[in-house]
Amino acid sequence: MRIVVCGLGYVGVTVAACMLRKGATVIGVDVNPQKVEIANEGHSPVKESGVDETFSRARAENRLTAATTLGSALADADVVVACVGTPSREDGSLELSYVSSVSEEIGTAVRQRSAKCRPLLCVFRSTMLPGTMETVVMPKLSAAAGEPAGQRYEPVYNPEFMRESTAITDYFNPPKIVVGERFPGAAQDLHGMYDGIDAPVFKVPFAVAEMAKYVDNYFHALKVSFANEIARLALTSAINPRDVIRIFLSDTKLNVSPYYLRPGNAFGGSCLPKDVRALSAFGKKHGLEVPLLQNVIASNTAHKSFIARLVLAHAPRGARILQMGLTFKPDTDDLRESPLVELAATLLERGYDLCLFEPDLKPEQLIGANLAFANAHLARLPELLVADFARAAARADLIVLGKAMPGVRLPSGKQFLNLYRL
Ligand SMILES: NC(=O)c1ccc[n+]([C@@H]2O[C@H](COP(=O)([O-])OP(=O)(O)OC[C@H]3O[C@@H](n4cnc5c(N)ncnc54)[C@H](O)[C@@H]3O)[C@@H](O)[C@H]2O)c1
Repeated sequence: MRIVVCGLGYVGVTVAACMLRKGATVIGVDVNPQKVEIANEGHSPVKESGVDETFSRARAENRLTAATTLGSALADADVVVACVGTPSREDGSLELSYVSSVSEEIGTAVRQRSAKCRPLLCVFRSTMLPGTMETVVMPKLSAAAGEPAGQRYEPVYNPEFMRESTAITDYFNPPKIVVGERFPGAAQDLHGMYDGIDAPVFKVPFAVAEMAKYVDNYFHALKVSFANEIARLALTSAINPRDVIRIFLSDTKLNVSPYYLRPGNAFGGSCLPKDVRALSAFGKKHGLEVPLLQNVIASNTAHKSFIARLVLAHAPRGARILQMGLTFKPDTDDLRESPLVELAATLLERGYDLCLFEPDLKPEQLIGANLAFANAHLARLPELLVADFARAAARADLIVLGKAMPGVRLPSGKQFLNLYRL
């Protein structure tokens, strides 16, 4: 296989080294002449474990060359991999000029390839915001190539999940392989770039792949910040953060697991909102800045508004809505701080003809704080509850699924909105 790698930074040298280890011939291209010179001397332009040895062996075997421009490098290449930088601009937004230029350069080189060549696989590995393939890369490629993708070239987005310093090992042992493509099957098998690698493969539209990369990095940053805020809180109270985190990490059922990580409705109930507020207040009392913890309630409130707007967008004012579920989760009659109670109240306020189906609730048995919450937020609760689901569903314009109700058969031909699995 003949591979051209554009951008000899941390990602580019890793891709080049891994492809060389798989037996490919590689041409590395970088606008920085110093990096090109170093690669041509058989060394890695950046410090990355294993690259130097691979480059020096490949140079000796005549399988690695580097240049400052694409020139005719793409004439007989099978794959070009773009690994150019996407740094932050001063305002935090993404600098896409390198991606834009390299797309144009690749497109121009495609135009010069013989029409007999099979389509050139153009793999983009830079981290780019959702929509970049559609709005920057594809237009630049097609304008420069003089034709749309398909016949002579095929763009693919294949984000990189390596960690610097263990990048080569990570390439051959990835947690997953994500391939963004124009349509299902367009990327084929990436010309064997991942052959022999045991990892789940996700072939998805461009924007999903673009976002998947950011979600990972954001989550990693969130985890570090969360652990550090917990540590700051602990240290303020002379508690050993390591003792606390050891207990937290031992729980792979609810903590370090997919639990609480599936998008759905806001959190509620008698514990989470109360305890989040309390720990936040504890931090404030000790004069600590823990912005992540202190903004969790604000994030949840924003989500409640988003959910309400979603429902409003699905039904015109005055429409008949059947909301399934009112308690904060299935199999409990706890209404305290249930986002579904707040949603019902909002829908009534907005003039909808609302009825509620909630098999977990018997209004005549509501007592204590549960009753107080219902009275404060949904005084008309008893008259809104319906017992005959089939009848209420038949007359509803929209059925809102607030929580899972596995025993209930949903009618066909109705408009549904699922809030517990977005
Ligand atoms: N470094 C990482 O660990 C890592 C991991 C995953 C993803 N990424 C993403 O991969 C991309 C590259 O990251 P990096 O750390 O390798 O960047 P880098 O800055 O180390 O390297 C980018 C290289 O691209 C070169 N370049 C710019 N324009 C070019 C062009 N038109 N033609 C050829 N070369 C060109 C630059 O001279 C530079 O050497 C970024 O989008 C980054 O966010 C990085």
